[in-house]
Amino acid sequence: MRDTRDIPPTTPDPITWLREDRARAQTARDPCAGLCTVATVDAEGHPQARTLVLRDVNGRLAVFLNRTSPKWIEFDQAPSVAVVVWLPVLNLQYRLRCRIEPVPDALVAASWQLRPSAPKRLDWLYTATLAQGSVVRDRAHLLEALESVPLPDPLVAPPTAAGLYLDAFTVDRLDLAQPDGVHDRRHFERREGDWHERIRVP
Ligand SMILES: Cc1cc2nc3c(=O)[nH]c(=O)nc-3n(C[C@H](O)[C@H](O)[C@H](O)COP(=O)(O)O)c2cc1C
Repeated sequence: MRDTRDIPPTTPDPITWLREDRARAQTARDPCAGLCTVATVDAEGHPQARTLVLRDVNGRLAVFLNRTSPKWIEFDQAPSVAVVVWLPVLNLQYRLRCRIEPVPDALVAASWQLRPSAPKRLDWLYTATLAQGSVVRDRAHLLEALESVPLPDPLVAPPTAAGLYLDAFTVDRLDLAQPDGVHDRRHFERREGDWHERIRVP
């Protein structure tokens, strides 16, 4: 029988819970603490998934990407995206469905300054010569193109550097670390600004 009972709005909300779990994972040197997998649907209707750094930008979840990548259009045209965070050290999985909203360019530009040199060059390569994901003859050609890419002085973010907030409207948290071996699965839905929690069969 389907259980439709609602537990009253929760405090803390699941995004706060996710933030705390990621902080615990970071402390425990979980290699996935800073990452997520984001799934979109491409123009042919096929699923596409990739690992991205999951950032906290002014208290909101966000990812940074380049507008020349095919995924930009997939993000841009999607009503929502699916995000998975797997924290192996904690035995915890989060699955989120998120709407997206652009991160203001000024915030992207400030954060871009913290990138290492190679990704900075790559971002300018995408912008000036070779879009992300385009095909090159061989790796040597890529490295040459990267070496000769024109860089502005001062070195600032290219206009293709972008960020997207991920605003979750559902969260499914699966905690495998249960002493009795029965996984703890909680599903959260945001309605009219409040999170509602339900226990789900794992
Ligand atoms: C650990 C890890 C972190 C990554 N972080 C990012 C990221 O923050 N932004 C990004 O655009 N690509 C990131 N990538 C690369 C993407 O997974 C992907 O290969 C790339 O963006 C090209 O994807 P596309 O073909 O969908 O454009 C990361 C890959 C790994 C393995």
